[in-house]
Amino acid sequence: MKKEILKMFKEANGEFVSGENLSQALNCSRTAIWKHIEELREEGYEFEAVRRSGYRLLSIPDVPYPAEVKEGLQTTSLGQEVHFFPTIDSTQHKAHGLAKEGAKEGTVVIADEQVGGKGRLGRVWHSPPGTGIALSILLRPQLELHRCPQLTLLAAVAIVEAIQEETNLPAQIKWPNDVLLNGKKICGILTELNAESDRINYLIIGIGINVNTPSFPEEIGQIATSLMLEKQAPIRRVKLVQNFLEKLERLYQLYLTEGFAPIKRRWESHAISIGKRVIIRQISGMMTGLALGIDDDGVLLVQKDDGNIEKVYSADIELG
Ligand code: BTN
Repeated sequence: MKKEILKMFKEANGEFVSGENLSQALNCSRTAIWKHIEELREEGYEFEAVRRSGYRLLSIPDVPYPAEVKEGLQTTSLGQEVHFFPTIDSTQHKAHGLAKEGAKEGTVVIADEQVGGKGRLGRVWHSPPGTGIALSILLRPQLELHRCPQLTLLAAVAIVEAIQEETNLPAQIKWPNDVLLNGKKICGILTELNAESDRINYLIIGIGINVNTPSFPEEIGQIATSLMLEKQAPIRRVKLVQNFLEKLERLYQLYLTEGFAPIKRRWESHAISIGKRVIIRQISGMMTGLALGIDDDGVLLVQKDDGNIEKVYSADIELG
């Protein structure tokens, strides 16, 4: 019912809609309509109420509610099913639960705030309320296990291209999947897999973007930034989510039909580390070398100082 009321207000294009019209069109009492409008107000929608004219919608909040994300979304699968939570432990957990219950490919879990957000390598990911994007997407590709890292790289390409289009900011990728602006992190990607022997059951790609974070504690501010801080203007989260989902779906379809080659080319064109000297930190130790590129599995190829080429599967890298 609330969805229908909102739809009528949006269709009225800022004009007044009377309580009478709403209650007739939706076949419910004026009191019920009023209650729903109050709920919408609590969610951040602003209405003007004028006696005898009714209500008109003044503004729509920039919160990734399903109705907002889905409105005008140009996809056939990704984001057609959206689960929104004002607060959640981690969208990854929720997405795993939905996947196990049989949720379909493209299902998105999105939260305004995470209180137990997960980062790569067991780290914590902070998603304070009202400022960022914390979302997880369920994919069910029929792929061999070793190809999974390619999908993380594909997601990084979609994010960088969506950020560039929405903000004009020159976002870049640091292998494997950090998105940076002016050398500071604005987005992290965490891909989690559920598989049996060599068959993928499903994959959850988790994306955290610092969108309108106004400031960071000093030590984090050295290494992280937000789109708003870089652009000096707030960015609409809903538009960025939509753009990202549209880009991700197109790249995913391209990948399923043409393989990794076209994605790899785009990834390399956005990569900050390729052709540069890098410091590589792995559990097994540290090394330095020249980042040559990635291979067809998304593995980083590094030429060490002795000339040998090493494959790096998982690590943190720093530009040397
Ligand atoms: C990283 O750079 O370490 C990856 C961070 C991934 C964070 C996102 S936010 C949405 C999703 N839910 C989580 O708990 N983590 C991912």
